[in-house]
Order: sequence, then structure tokens, then C-alpha cells
Amino acid sequence: MRSAEITGWGKCMPPNVLSNHDLEQLVDTSDEWITTRTGIKERRISHVEASELAAVAGLRALAAAGKSPEDVDLLLVATCSGDSIIPSTASVVQKHMQAWNAAAMDLNAACSGFVYGLVVGTNMIRGGTHQTVLLVGTEKLHHLMDFTDRNTCVLFGDGAGAVVLEATDGEIGLLASDLGMDGSVGHILEVPVDGTMGDRGELNPRHCGITMEGQEVFKRAVTKMGESAARSLEKAGIALEDVALLIPHQANVRIIDATARRLGLDEGKVYVNIHSYGNTSAATIPVALTEALEEGRISAGDIVLFAAFGGGLTWGSAVYRWGARTEPLDESDAELPPPDRDTMELLRPNFDFFGLPEKLS
Ligand code: UT7
Repeated sequence: MRSAEITGWGKCMPPNVLSNHDLEQLVDTSDEWITTRTGIKERRISHVEASELAAVAGLRALAAAGKSPEDVDLLLVATCSGDSIIPSTASVVQKHMQAWNAAAMDLNAACSGFVYGLVVGTNMIRGGTHQTVLLVGTEKLHHLMDFTDRNTCVLFGDGAGAVVLEATDGEIGLLASDLGMDGSVGHILEVPVDGTMGDRGELNPRHCGITMEGQEVFKRAVTKMGESAARSLEKAGIALEDVALLIPHQANVRIIDATARRLGLDEGKVYVNIHSYGNTSAATIPVALTEALEEGRISAGDIVLFAAFGGGLTWGSAVYRWGARTEPLDESDAELPPPDRDTMELLRPNFDFFGLPEKLS
């Protein structure tokens, strides 16, 4: 049966770092609290827009697949912190990459965006309308981070990851998936402004940043990611012991651990890199997948399980059988322009808009 195989992968992490110790200088928090409650040690702050991160990650993924931008006939950009509403971020990414043969669209399923995109991209290829899909997860979440709110400003970061999906007749690729949404509780993780419900008269900074009922989101994340992953495995007819690696969305290491425990999966089979980047929403899984391949954690024929949960509230999981190749075919020389400001200077517009962090006021 015609399926879709991941033939290329890449990431683009902006160079500016915001460590837990930097955050200690801004808000009433500690490296110890952030590390034990979330697993995060540092995150990246981007000096460019989400589209530029996406283009570099995309070019690296295409090189790994031995493809060029003209080969792409569908560009899917999973993001919830894109450059603008119109044009879509996908439009800007197409321009940066000169992927002129690609249909292109944004996909907003928040932190579940990559898993949603994997299912959409695979099914477009299976349906026969597209041959080569570039799926990118990209975020510039620091734009939405309110550094007067210690509950949220320690959690998120910026970055992008991408995969190339190509048509194949092999018994590989997506074996089963499960996607879901519970809109009845969408408000427990939100950024209300920038949609039509935003009050144009009085822009209230409180409505422009990420707000979250952390514990409620936490409980739902553990339940839904675990249930969804179990459903996908059952649909695929794959036993838990046959899973080589779980690549979960990286929101909180305690969510990841609890999900693996609920499934009964050995912790050695779980990929975790949240300490380096924090929660980069739609980018966490493609970035983690790229690093897992670079570290030799995936072998030919392996069963890889993806699971995610995020704003909406969305969730998704996918059981994927890896193909023969785990090495890139080529390397891209695509790079971001170097930053012209340090991390604190990049955060200055946030402080001006949301208010000074308590330790600076
Ligand atoms: O990508 C999907 C979306 N996001 C998520 O999945 C995140 C889900 N939620 C979480 O990861 C966790 O709920 C958090 C990391 C956000 C919070 O962890 P928690 O263990 O649920 O902490 P909490 O909200 O119950 O707060 C415990 C205490 C509170 O103090 P009191 O009331 O006990 O005195 C908070 O005020 O920790 C305090 N606190 C902090 N202390 C130091 C909250 N944020 C901080 C902070 N530093 N940054």
C-alpha cells in the first residue's frame, strides 16, 4: 500500500540562551524549582521570526532527504506563534525557501501540531495528490511570554524542526494514529488576543500572553497522551514491548515520566531533551526526532511512538515504522543570520509591553 516515509529531518535552534539562572534575575523563581517541577534548565530566545527558523530547519531536512525546495509539492507549517495572520507563516516560509512548486498552509493544533501534520501529510500522499511534503513545526513563543507571570514565563522557548515525507510502497511509515480535541476546556490554556474576539480599543497586555491553569493542563496531558498512545498502538496491532522509542511532546518531564509509567514503557525507551529547550510547542517533536537520529537512538525498522498534548485542548499520537535509512544523504549550509543583540535585549520589547519583571521594577 502506498504510504509516506520520513526521508529527511532537521532542526534550527536560535543561538541566544535564557537559562534558569537568568530567570532568577527576573522573577521570584529558582533553578531548583524549575528543574524539579519541569525538567527545564534553559531555553532559546529567537532573534528572527518563526518563518526564518522554519526555513532553515526545512532546508536542512530537505538536504538530509537529498531533495531541493522545488521538489516540495506541499508545505505544512505547524505553529501557534507565526509571523502574521495573513499571509500565513507557510507563505513566508515558501518565499524564504523558494519552494515555488508547493501548496502551503499553516496548521494550528498548538503543541500537537506536528502529530496532526504527520497524519495530514501522510494522508495527502496516500490519497495520491502529493508526492513530497515538507512538514515544519516552528515557534517564536517568547513573543507571548509575560515575564511578570512566573507561572508561565519559565516554561516556553523558541525553535523549529522539520521532516520530509515522501511517497513509498514499503511497509513503513504511519501504521496508526489517534487525534483528538476537547474544545469545552480550551480556555484553560490560551492566548485570547490576535483573533476577532480581541478588543481593539483597549489592548490589554494580560490578554496577549500565554495564560494557563497549570495543574488542570498537567492532569489532562498525562491522561490524554497515555490513552491516545495506547489507542494508536492497539489500532496498529503493535505490542508495547515492540516500541523502540517514545518521542513525546516536551512540556514537562513529569508529564513525560507519568505518561510512560501509565503506558508501562521503560524509561530507557523515552526520548527527553526538554532540559535544553523547554516547551517549543509544535517544534518539540521534530527537534527531538532529529536529535534522536543524530544520537543513533533510531535503527532501521524501529517502531517509533509519537505522543503530544496542547492548547485547544488537542492531543495526538502516532505509531510509525522507520525505514532503512537513519543517516542524512547530505548537509545544508543554511544558517540563520547572527544575532545582533543579547538575550536580555531581545526580551526588552516583552518588558515594555507586559511590564517589567518584578526584580527589574
Ligand atoms: O504544552 C502543553 C501545555 N503545557 C503543559 O502541559 C504544562 C502543564 N503544567 C505544568 O507543567 C505544571 O502545572 C507547571 C510546571 C506549570 C506548574 O507546576 P505545579 O507542580 O503544577 O505547580 P503549581 O502550579 O501547583 O504551583 C506550586 C507552587 C505555587 O506556590 P504556592 O501556592 O504553593 O505557594 C506557585 O505559586 O509553585 C509556585 N510557582 C513557582 N515557584 C517558583 C509557580 N511558578 C513558579 C516558579 N518559580 N516559576
